[in-house]
Amino acid sequence: MNQTKEDHPLTKYIAEASKQGLSKAQIIKTLTDEGWRINDILDVILERILPEDVKVQEVAPAQDAIISVRSIRKSYGKVAALDNISLDVPRGSVLGLLGPNGAGKTTLVRVLTTLLKPDSGTAIVSGINVAENPSLVRNHIGLAGQYAAIDENLTGKENLELVGKLYHLAPEVIVARTQDLLERFSLVDAANRTAKTYSGGMRRRLDLAASLVGEPEILFLDEPTTGLDPRSRSELWEVIEGLVKDGTTVLLTTQYLEEADYLADNIIMIDHGKVIAQGTARELKAQIGGGVVELHLSDKRRMTEATQLLQGVGAEPAHVDEVSGHITIPVEDGAKTLVEAVRLLYTAGLELADIELRKPTLDEVFLKLTEKGASNDK
Ligand SMILES: Nc1ncnc2c1ncn2[C@@H]1O[C@H](COP(=O)(O)OP(=O)(O)OP(=O)(O)O)[C@@H](O)[C@H]1O
Ligand SMILES: [Mg+2]
Repeated sequence: MNQTKEDHPLTKYIAEASKQGLSKAQIIKTLTDEGWRINDILDVILERILPEDVKVQEVAPAQDAIISVRSIRKSYGKVAALDNISLDVPRGSVLGLLGPNGAGKTTLVRVLTTLLKPDSGTAIVSGINVAENPSLVRNHIGLAGQYAAIDENLTGKENLELVGKLYHLAPEVIVARTQDLLERFSLVDAANRTAKTYSGGMRRRLDLAASLVGEPEILFLDEPTTGLDPRSRSELWEVIEGLVKDGTTVLLTTQYLEEADYLADNIIMIDHGKVIAQGTARELKAQIGGGVVELHLSDKRRMTEATQLLQGVGAEPAHVDEVSGHITIPVEDGAKTLVEAVRLLYTAGLELADIELRKPTLDEVFLKLTEKGASNDK
């Protein structure tokens, strides 16, 4: 990157001397003896001592990243679906990509899975530049897209076998993997029925099974559990956890923040094609401060009255929470606000069914971060 350092007359000498086993101290001594300025020597030694180092720094932005995205842009007409996105996914981890409808999640997944060319920027997946060598990237990845990509007219078993053939696997490998996946995804009984007779949950499971036939190093899941009942969802979570335990790296998009909270090591929130927050679930929750006082009134009809009464007690206005349907007050000094809220409500004759002081949920973080410019399109 920094051309002047590479071209520095000392670079070659120092690289050569290191190769011959001279220590940094010996190199500095020899060069100062020769009349070089110590600052010039240190510049070269500290920043890029060996040509190999220079190379590594240029192609691998983050050391243990199996996915590295730098300044990716993709526009559709005036809509910037991806607006200068950069991120890294450490090998063996789960990245949860969150964002409202139209935020750019599917577009990013499509770029990383070689289905879409970005306007600019670089994406390195498993050490391979996606734009330069898409077919090689495909050998390392599996994708279960937002809309299941199975063939309705084939049976579950045939669908998996077909994917095996597309991967040019040996026939006996196809048979073994198909059987294994049908078992892991509880599809043995339905294996010989056409996929059009499958329920939504079974289709999702079959789709995910299909994405695993090639035993990918990296798995992309675009909203893997949308439309599933809570039980099927947690079954799928277990399968994903198992894959991660075996070393698979997972990038998943989701609308369910609880899902990201449960599965993801790191979370990146995007909106309007930009990264708006990132960190672990815990770090993101800490970002919006202390906690939340949540109130449940005995008489639900008096919610508005109570909400108005409680304006100004917390760090931010009280409001009726869209998720729980209860009154919530973001607070910094939890205990004090709690006492004050109870006092105000009792004085007004409003009875409480329950009150608690809790940590913010990821939903609250998400709503707070996206409230300024909610993505409103599709
Ligand atoms: N093929 C396309 N042609 C035109 N606009 C598109 C196309 N694909 C995506 N977009 C636009 O790009 C933006 C990002 O879309 P994308 O599908 O990536 O969002 P998303 O985060 O996956 O949303 P959702 O949660 O609804 O799946 C949206 O404004 C969308 O309308
Ligand atoms: Mg999408």
